[in-house]
Amino acid sequence: MNRPKSQLFLVYTIIVALLFLALLSLIVPLSNGSDRIMIIVVLIGAFAIVEIILYQIYLNYIAPVKLINVIMKELVKGNYKVRAFESYHHDSGKLAKSVNQLARNLQDLNRQEKMQSRQLNTVIDNMESGIMLIDEQGYVHLVNRKFTDQFGKQSEDYYGRIYYEVLDQAKIYQTVQEAFLYEQSVKASITLNNGDQKTYIEVVGAPFFNEEKDLRGIVLVFHDITDLKRVEQMRKDFVANVSHELKTPITSIKGFAETMLDDDVDQNIQTRFLKIIYNESDRLQSLIHDLLELSKLEKDELKLKFTNIKVVDLIEECIDIVSGQADKKSITITFEQNNRPQITGDEARIKQVILNLLFNAINYTGGFGIINIALQYEKQWLRVEVRDNGIGIPGEAQARIFERFYRVDKARSRNTGGTGLGLAIVKHIVEAHHGFIEVESELNKGTAFYVYLPVN
Ligand SMILES: Nc1ncnc2c1ncn2[C@@H]1O[C@H](COP(=O)(O)OP(=O)(O)O)[C@@H](O)[C@H]1O
Ligand SMILES: [Mg+2]
Repeated sequence: MNRPKSQLFLVYTIIVALLFLALLSLIVPLSNGSDRIMIIVVLIGAFAIVEIILYQIYLNYIAPVKLINVIMKELVKGNYKVRAFESYHHDSGKLAKSVNQLARNLQDLNRQEKMQSRQLNTVIDNMESGIMLIDEQGYVHLVNRKFTDQFGKQSEDYYGRIYYEVLDQAKIYQTVQEAFLYEQSVKASITLNNGDQKTYIEVVGAPFFNEEKDLRGIVLVFHDITDLKRVEQMRKDFVANVSHELKTPITSIKGFAETMLDDDVDQNIQTRFLKIIYNESDRLQSLIHDLLELSKLEKDELKLKFTNIKVVDLIEECIDIVSGQADKKSITITFEQNNRPQITGDEARIKQVILNLLFNAINYTGGFGIINIALQYEKQWLRVEVRDNGIGIPGEAQARIFERFYRVDKARSRNTGGTGLGLAIVKHIVEAHHGFIEVESELNKGTAFYVYLPVN
């Protein structure tokens, strides 16, 4: 800090000088000769001593107080970096030290407070839920980043505004009003439309109180429950699909059995109907088998029995299993093998994957088609490719064929005995092995499935 200007000292000096001049002008006329010189010398000496004392008092007491006053003003303004000279004598020095200590403490407190508020802001801004704080008069005091992401405006558009001016969802005001009215947490769900994308949000309005239990405002929390909704919807669809899939064979079994119960059905027709009933119950059986398989795979306790798998041997076994069916359609299966890779995995499950892909390839390829299996290392993956030159899968369906019950052509799939669950099971097994599956296909040209399994 600059030393304060010594105007005060100058004023005192002038006053003392005037006093001495007055004394001189009174005393000097009363004396003469050498006495007069003596008196003048003594008076000038006395003036000098008074001045020195005055200067010392000024320097050690008045100037420090003035300086500390300036420092205090800076502290009040919030400038905690100012410091006083500590080199003053005695009490002034102590005072300066105390003031500096105070300034240092304030600076520390201020730094801590800033840090805490920064931490709090970081936490609030990085929360997975949107937050809005409304005071007891309805003014918005805080919104976090997630909230502005959800509602697509800037935080400045909300601060200091009344909540119903800035929120255009009637259900949110209702939540706020009920939370104010009943002084209890209130829940509601809303839907936000961002273009053609829908976001489902659960809003919780929770009142907060001061120590005297007076209501001070409402915290609104906005949880994104879109994923939950999607899972719920998937579950509903799944139940509907299962019921539908079971209904078809059962209806036909019941219908044919009823007809057969009539007396006058001739022997030939009876045999035909019995065949249909047999086939339909077969379908039911494979459907139930696949469903049980899926639910076993979905349970967390899916325990894979990991062993060393000789992939070439396993694929050759699979080819043997499907060869009867391939021969019926005169389909050729070729297998390229340059090396004899080994992986660790659950042998029975990996076999299930290959068999499913091979049966699909046979089912969705016309007579005299060709199916080719190839193995290849790609970085840390072993890629198993199953390629056919069959009917192919249209582009928009390729992303969906791994969904349960999804089939490009329901009638065709049913004729081949398909349940629509095969690829869902395949994907599950591959992912349980920490691998992934991809499909490439062109309509009427063919399809290739690529299974990537980790080598280690
Ligand atoms: N190799 C393939 N060629 C053409 N379409 C296929 C092939 N593999 C699967 N698909 C299509 O994907 C759908 C789902 O397959 P999947 O889950 O095995 O059920 P599905 O029981 O119908 O075989 C099939 O219905 C079929 O439309
Ligand atoms: Mg299938």
